[in-house]
Amino acid sequence: MVITKETYSTVELDTLPINDSWDGRDVHENLMHRIHAYPAKFPAFITTKAIQYAESNNVKVDTVADIFCGCGTVAYETVKANRHFWGCDINPVATLIARTKSHHYDDERIAQYYSDIINTFALLPFDESDAAANNERINYWFFQEQIEDLSRLKHAIERVVEDETYREFFLCAFSNILKSCSRWLTKSIKPQLDPNKKPHDVMASFAKQVKMMQRANLENEIKGGLAAIETTNCLSMTVKKSFVDLLVTSPPYVTSYEYADLHQLSTLWLGYTDDYRSFREGTIGSLHGENHLPDHLKYLNHTGRDIVFKLYAIDKSKCRSVSQYYIDMQNAVKKVYELIRPGGATLFVIGNTEYKGVKIDNARHLIETLLNEGFEGVEVERRKISNKILTPYRDSVGKFTTDKNSRKIYSEEFIIFAKKSLCQNN
Ligand SMILES: C[S@@+](CC[C@H](N)C(=O)[O-])C[C@H]1O[C@@H](n2cnc3c(N)ncnc32)[C@H](O)[C@@H]1O
Repeated sequence: MVITKETYSTVELDTLPINDSWDGRDVHENLMHRIHAYPAKFPAFITTKAIQYAESNNVKVDTVADIFCGCGTVAYETVKANRHFWGCDINPVATLIARTKSHHYDDERIAQYYSDIINTFALLPFDESDAAANNERINYWFFQEQIEDLSRLKHAIERVVEDETYREFFLCAFSNILKSCSRWLTKSIKPQLDPNKKPHDVMASFAKQVKMMQRANLENEIKGGLAAIETTNCLSMTVKKSFVDLLVTSPPYVTSYEYADLHQLSTLWLGYTDDYRSFREGTIGSLHGENHLPDHLKYLNHTGRDIVFKLYAIDKSKCRSVSQYYIDMQNAVKKVYELIRPGGATLFVIGNTEYKGVKIDNARHLIETLLNEGFEGVEVERRKISNKILTPYRDSVGKFTTDKNSRKIYSEEFIIFAKKSLCQNN
């Protein structure tokens, strides 16, 4: 359905028919998409489908971008489709995974480096001055045996693998074994200690992880596309050039995950920070951002303001975080507009939620934002989310619940496509 400035506020998005052509249930996903856990991953097939969709709308697609690239689902699928990719994410763990995924490695070099790492590990003593090993949070999550082995393994990787691209491959493997080698409750994505857990052995986990990544690399169908991936806050980046043909993205959701907290094992071990909380700053949807509600009200669009007013009567702190989220999303769309060349397009995947009876209508807010920014031909499709668990509510820590006062999770989401006119530029 095509939506305009005249119709966006009244159109019934939730009763749009489900479009089965956006249901990727039966599409095979490469093993590469499973080399590292990452929350709220994008369904891989959407990238290829988005490229086809844009091309059928007369957009020639050589370069695809994603400003919230996460673990690089769009990145990998883009280079696999023999197009170039540019992307960013504020989370350095995300960009480490995304770069690893979108590169093709020589299997023999991986095997050689792996054997050198193992030999070096055997000779390296534990360095008691290792900052990560002395970090208070690391000592909370890990037993001493794992701390010593992880510290030796990290140093072995850094010492042996001089090629940066290959070093990232092994650091990515290192990062993905941290949770199983720690006392983090296995089934929980949120940080929670399991007092009964027996953490896995570091070197056995590393061997298994590297083998799996080698299989993923061999299956890797990357042809000729190149990927450039940066760790940056998209809200504060300077866009020097409109070079993107198609920007495909799924934005963070309001206050659903605290990404900085979820990746603390990796950010601390890899030395990205000594206080994982510093990464909350700038992360869209974080509960810990600064909130200036009166200022926001001036800048929020109509949809945003309506939702924020409804929330104000129920929960002021939720109202503040939602208003910050909408302001951030409005600013992110400005960057998207600047990045896309005239005649190019964007495709967002976005879902709605509900909080204590107030509908958090992210899709409508995004549509209005795109239209206000100058995008045209805004089209919306509704798709079923294939793997949604049936309980439609989550409590404040994200657990599924039947309590209707909790956050409602929908089992449908929206594909929103919009074009930048050929005769417009920044
Ligand atoms: C829904 S996830 C994207 C998942 C991704 N499509 C994938 O398949 O992995 C949203 C991402 O936005 C990132 N993010 C949040 N705030 C950001 C900001 N200000 N600048 C750049 N990235 C940000 C988060 O770190 C997270 O990785």
